[in-house]
Amino acid sequence: MAELTPPLTPMSLGALLTRIEHEWGTRKKIFDLPNARIWKPDPDVDLGFDFLGRRCASPVGPAAGPHSQLAQNIVLAWLGGSRLFELKTVQVIDDLEIQRPCIDMQTVGYNIEWSQELTCPQSLTEYAKASMLLEILRSWEPLAPFIGPDPGPHVFDMSVGYDLEGISGDKVGTFIRGMRDATEEIARLRTDLTGSWSQFADLDFNPHLSDTLTLSTFHGCPPDEIEAITKHLIDEHELDVIVKLNPTLLGYETVAGIVNDELGYTDVSVQESAFGADLQFDRGIELIGELNSYAKERGHRFGIKLTNTLVVDNLKQWMPEETMYLSGPPLHVIASTLLDTLNKALPGQLDIPQGDAEPGDIMVSFSAGITKGNLADSIAMGVHPATVCSDLLKPGGYGRLAPMLKALTTAVKESGSHDLPSWKADRLALAQAAGHSSTVEQHVASIRGDGIAPYHLTGNEKLPRAVDHELDMFGCVACNFCITVCPNDAFFSIPTTDAVSDAVGEGAGRQQYLVLSEQCNECGNCMTFCPEEGDPAMIKPRLYTDADLFSAREGQGVLIDAGGTVLDHRLDDEAASLLAGLLTSGTGTPLGPNDATESTS
Ligand SMILES: Cc1cc2nc3c(=O)[nH]c(=O)nc-3n(C[C@H](O)[C@H](O)[C@H](O)COP(=O)(O)O)c2cc1C
Repeated sequence: MAELTPPLTPMSLGALLTRIEHEWGTRKKIFDLPNARIWKPDPDVDLGFDFLGRRCASPVGPAAGPHSQLAQNIVLAWLGGSRLFELKTVQVIDDLEIQRPCIDMQTVGYNIEWSQELTCPQSLTEYAKASMLLEILRSWEPLAPFIGPDPGPHVFDMSVGYDLEGISGDKVGTFIRGMRDATEEIARLRTDLTGSWSQFADLDFNPHLSDTLTLSTFHGCPPDEIEAITKHLIDEHELDVIVKLNPTLLGYETVAGIVNDELGYTDVSVQESAFGADLQFDRGIELIGELNSYAKERGHRFGIKLTNTLVVDNLKQWMPEETMYLSGPPLHVIASTLLDTLNKALPGQLDIPQGDAEPGDIMVSFSAGITKGNLADSIAMGVHPATVCSDLLKPGGYGRLAPMLKALTTAVKESGSHDLPSWKADRLALAQAAGHSSTVEQHVASIRGDGIAPYHLTGNEKLPRAVDHELDMFGCVACNFCITVCPNDAFFSIPTTDAVSDAVGEGAGRQQYLVLSEQCNECGNCMTFCPEEGDPAMIKPRLYTDADLFSAREGQGVLIDAGGTVLDHRLDDEAASLLAGLLTSGTGTPLGPNDATESTS
């Protein structure tokens, strides 16, 4: 594994489309997502909501993170049922070196990664490609039976960080303007719509990719800076803005009390020093009110997002940094408690159902340990959207989204409602009947009381399955985890050939797993979940489609064309011959038909 960020090389729009067509034709999958995991809305239940006044057909989506960076990530999230995309945070330092591994989802969530791994112009291109792909897939006939007659509207929400100087500079400014009007980018990408995709060449692609933005406030961002950045984004770019708040707002004693004492994570060292440097509660309350008024006076909408990750000491030392950022189940308890506290301190201001009073107009977006088990209760609190990161990094990956939405649909249906507002009203009445002032208060009482189990250490200490066997290039337990836990879909599999079976013997497994090196940023997540010992990203055959990158990188690797013909390799002769046979056997690579010769770079 490289110590620092290996460059990601996004696939061209043409290559992504070729892959979609070929993979669907040979495997009935798109970017490895089986068709059974594609979300088909229930025509009897409207899960839609208004995101700062823009309609989204479901209240779920990827949180800014590894699932909203490359075009294929966004397509995968959409296929799973996401309709609100908080795009990966873009910032001025776009050649940041992040240590590896950078994601640790062994139990709850930890990471040391905090912004995009692409340059600002590359990020714009990825988001434009993703937007075009979604427009195309909405009307792509083979997909119609799986997505239903109307997959409904979606919204791309930008995320930028982390200081005024960077955000008001030319680089980030150009990115935001590009997202507001991507006409040029789309015209350039349109030339990739050839072959069977030429039917979409004249599609009226919307050049306005996004006009909302969530400000990611990194730890230590002073309140004046948050205020100045928000005003800049409203004034200069005419955006509706959400400020993503940190869990530190709740104060050290409360947070450490929840994590260490109530939830039992005695092995987590909450960093007290981070609390002093962050926005304090009283100033936070003022700031939320002031910024909402500022936005409204200028005809804009304002919202808050709860929460970003929690700063803790890296006692595990699996990732090479002093500090790491906690997410997942314990963060859910912290963020829900923060919501209840803010809601009580800002009576009638948050767009949260409560009592007889009308809800306020400050929308609350949420990202903290959302799972299939708590999505319905979270949405019932009044937050929307509920965005997800950690849960999608667990086995099943993007395939976990549709079951989440199904569970929400069932909850709404079982209450006799047909849409979220009437269901939330129903849930509020039930909460009040049980003696709570709001559904938020009821949820917090539950997860810090009888319903604590999924958030407590005892519910989260089980390690991923392990077998006492060193991982080899060919043959493994074929659990498929490396495919599903990779946010970039850098892995794929091919059914084992007789030649591989003969060479490997008993341990050959049903499928052989391969890595698309240009899509792999060596985050470490496949290594966490692989039951065998070793790093699948480094041990499984590393495929390249770009000759220059193949030459520039070291270690084992194979240069192929899209159809799987081996053009060059750094393998021993036996491995090279097994791989050559595998790549052109059966379903072959998902990248393109066997006679394809085009490059994917
Ligand atoms: C690997 C990883 C990368 C992340 N990157 C970003 C980011 O670039 N910008 C940001 O605002 N939040 C980032 N986050 C935080 C998430 O958006 C989310 O707020 C947080 O993880 C809580 O949600 P979860 O419990 O579902 O993971 C990241 C989280 C993880 C785990």
